[in-house]
Amino acid sequence: MPKKTTDLAEETMIVHGCDTAHSTSRDLVPPIHMTSTYTFENAAQGSGVFAGTHDGYVYTRIANPTIDILQEKMAVLEGGEAAIATASGMSAIASVAMTLARPDDNFVACNSVYGGTFALFNVQLRNLRITPRFISPALSHSKKEIGKLIDKNTRFLFIETPANPTLDIIDIQLWSSIAASKKIPLIVDNTFASTYLQKPFNLGADIVIHSATKYLGGHGDIIGGILVGSQKMMERIKEEYVRDFGPVMSPFNAWLILRGIKTLALRMERHSDNAMKIAKWLKKHKKVESVHYPGLASHRNHTIAKRQMKKFGGMIAFEVNGGLIAGKRILDNVKICSLAVSLGDCETLIQHPASMTHSTYTKKEREKAGITDGLIRLSVGLENADDIIADLENTLSLVRDPSRKRR
Ligand SMILES: Cc1ncc(COP(=O)(O)O)c(C=O)c1O
Repeated sequence: MPKKTTDLAEETMIVHGCDTAHSTSRDLVPPIHMTSTYTFENAAQGSGVFAGTHDGYVYTRIANPTIDILQEKMAVLEGGEAAIATASGMSAIASVAMTLARPDDNFVACNSVYGGTFALFNVQLRNLRITPRFISPALSHSKKEIGKLIDKNTRFLFIETPANPTLDIIDIQLWSSIAASKKIPLIVDNTFASTYLQKPFNLGADIVIHSATKYLGGHGDIIGGILVGSQKMMERIKEEYVRDFGPVMSPFNAWLILRGIKTLALRMERHSDNAMKIAKWLKKHKKVESVHYPGLASHRNHTIAKRQMKKFGGMIAFEVNGGLIAGKRILDNVKICSLAVSLGDCETLIQHPASMTHSTYTKKEREKAGITDGLIRLSVGLENADDIIADLENTLSLVRDPSRKRR
C-alpha cells in the first residue's frame, strides 16, 4: 500500500499532523464543525457536489471537515492511505466485517478478543450466516493450523494484538503472510498498542482498527472508532456500509480525539513504563500466581512482542492465589484503581473479564480462549506507579498467604 510519507519523527507528526488542513482563519487548533448540513451556492453547484463533479460538503453523515482532519491524521500516523472515523470501535469492526462478508461466507479470527467483538462475531454475524472460524491463541502461531480454517469462502482474517484480556501477542507478520498467500485481507485491531507502539501496516496488515475510545481519546470521555487502509478499501467500506447504515462519529468526538492524540506519545511512554514497573512487582509477589505482560521476559510471546512493538503498553492481566474469590477482594478494596471496564484512560482501571467484559463468552468458550475465572485486568494509568503498587499491596494484604497453613 503506498503510504503517505513524511520526514518528520513520529512525536512531531502526533503533535502537528494535518490539523489546520481545513482552516480558513488560521486556527492553531481545528474548529469543531458542529453542523448537520451545508449550504450550496446554487442549484447547479449543489447537484454537482452530489454528482461528484464539484468539491463541497453535503451532509455530516457523508463527510464533515473536523472528522476529515481526524481521518487524515490517523491515515498518516498508521501509514495507510485513508481512514474512516466511526461512532465506536464496535461499529468500525462491524463496518469492515459487513462490507467484506456475505451470507455463507466465513472468516478466521483468533478467539482471544474483546468480549463485544466475540459477541458480534459469534452471535450477530452467525445470525446472518457469516461464520467465524475461531483459533485459540495457542494454535495461532502455526501456519498449518490457521491454513486449515481457510477455504474459498473465507473473506478475511482478524486478529487483536495484544489480545484483550489475555495479553496474548499474535504474530502480525505470520498472519499477513498467510492472508497475502490466500489473497484475502488481514484486519488487525490495534487498540491495545495504539498507533504509537505498533504499526501493523509495516508488518503486512491490510486494515487497522482502533477503538478510539481507549488510548487515542485517552481521557475516558468519548466513544469512537477508526478504520485505516487503502483508499480503495476505505471507499468501499464507506459506500457499502458506513454511508447507508450510518454509524458515523460526532464532530465533537472527532475534535476530542484529535486533542487526545496530541499527547499520545507522552501518554503511551508513561503507560508502558508504569505497567512494566507494576508487572515486575506483581511477578515477584508471593500472593500472585501469574502475570501476563508482554514486556516481561517470562511472557510466552515476549520475542514476538519485542519484534512488533516499540514498548509493551499499559495493559496487564494477572491472577492471584485463591483464584476468583481472592481476586474479588482486590476488586472490592482498591482505592486508587477504579473498578471499571474500558481502558487507556489517565486513571488506572481494574476489572474482572470473566464476569464483566468477557461475560459474552460461555465458560467453555473462555477456557478455549485462555480467559480463566480468576483473571484480573488492569489498565495502568498515568498516576505515579508507586501509588498504584501501594494500592495493590494494601488489597493483596487482605488475601490469605498461601505459604501460611490454616490452623
Ligand atoms: C480491543 C478492543 N477492540 C474494540 C473494542 C470496542 O470498542 P468500543 O467500546 O469503542 O465500541 C474494545 C472495547 O473495549 C476493545 O477493547
